[in-house]
Amino acid sequence: MQPALLYPHVPVLNREVLTYLNPKNKGRYLDATLGAGGHAEAILKACQPDGELISFDLDKEALSIAKERLNSFSDHIHFFHRSYTQLEQTLRELGWDALDGALFDLGVSSMQVDEAIRGFSFLKEGPLDMRFDIASPLTAQEVVNQWKEADLISILQNYGEEPKAYAIARAICAARPFHTTIQLADVVMQVYHGQRGKIHPATRTFQAVRMAVNDELHTIKIGIRSAANRLKDEGRIAVISFHSLEDRLVKEFFRQESRDCICPPEQPTCICGHKATLKVLTKKPVLASEDEIKINPRSRSAKLRVAQKIG
Ligand SMILES: C[S@@+](CC[C@H](N)C(=O)[O-])C[C@H]1O[C@@H](n2cnc3c(N)ncnc32)[C@H](O)[C@@H]1O
Repeated sequence: MQPALLYPHVPVLNREVLTYLNPKNKGRYLDATLGAGGHAEAILKACQPDGELISFDLDKEALSIAKERLNSFSDHIHFFHRSYTQLEQTLRELGWDALDGALFDLGVSSMQVDEAIRGFSFLKEGPLDMRFDIASPLTAQEVVNQWKEADLISILQNYGEEPKAYAIARAICAARPFHTTIQLADVVMQVYHGQRGKIHPATRTFQAVRMAVNDELHTIKIGIRSAANRLKDEGRIAVISFHSLEDRLVKEFFRQESRDCICPPEQPTCICGHKATLKVLTKKPVLASEDEIKINPRSRSAKLRVAQKIG
């Protein structure tokens, strides 16, 4: 068995991430989304004997799995049960000035989806939870049972790109109260009159509710900006996303940061004074190979984008 298969989450695009980050001895790296520590392990191995990694996860269970896995690197890794949005403060605490490389592997891990009690899966009966951090106040139950119909429409459209947002929001409000994931999945299924396409009809609704519960798009924006700010000259930031909203946000951030002027096109002369800070290294996103998809179907929707700090 390959070592990665010993753990419940197989890291996607691991080889490609390593190629782009090219970790070096004495380098200082960030794994913003530690999960089961698969990417972290690869980065740590590559930057020994004196490289270091700072790592974040909001999920305590993920952190304890990763801590056990990375036990042999305990002098080289710093674990934080925090959001990666607290990067600035955490770097100050560690006395680190800058990073040689940063990785964000967005979204949920297989461990989180597989555990029915976390409420991420529309295929497993569980409570409507969907929090990355089980201590955070907002749950999916509150969103589904208490948010106004207009707010549900807004998240279904903006976070789920759901074409039947109005009908689903109306059906949810009519079927309240909800207690379980399957109850919610069934209501969406009824709006769609059963499963027709390749994807389960509840996929977009679950994505929308999860993104609202964890305020994901806002968090990603803050996280990637602060990591990019803290890169050394020629340091690299790599982001793996799993759906179009995340990917668009990353692409747009890289595009903006790689331009000297971000004035609107109708502005005849530059008034923004913006200077490029990044060079995009992946003109198109890097996708998983057929071989990787065969071993790890989750990698099918992964997109990797990488940018480098301009010196
Ligand atoms: C796709 S998994 C990462 C898997 C990891 N790369 C590996 O090799 O096992 C994403 C992880 O990010 C965590 N996460 C999501 N939002 C976060 C945030 N704002 N701060 C820190 N961790 C977060 C989730 O709890 C989850 O464990």
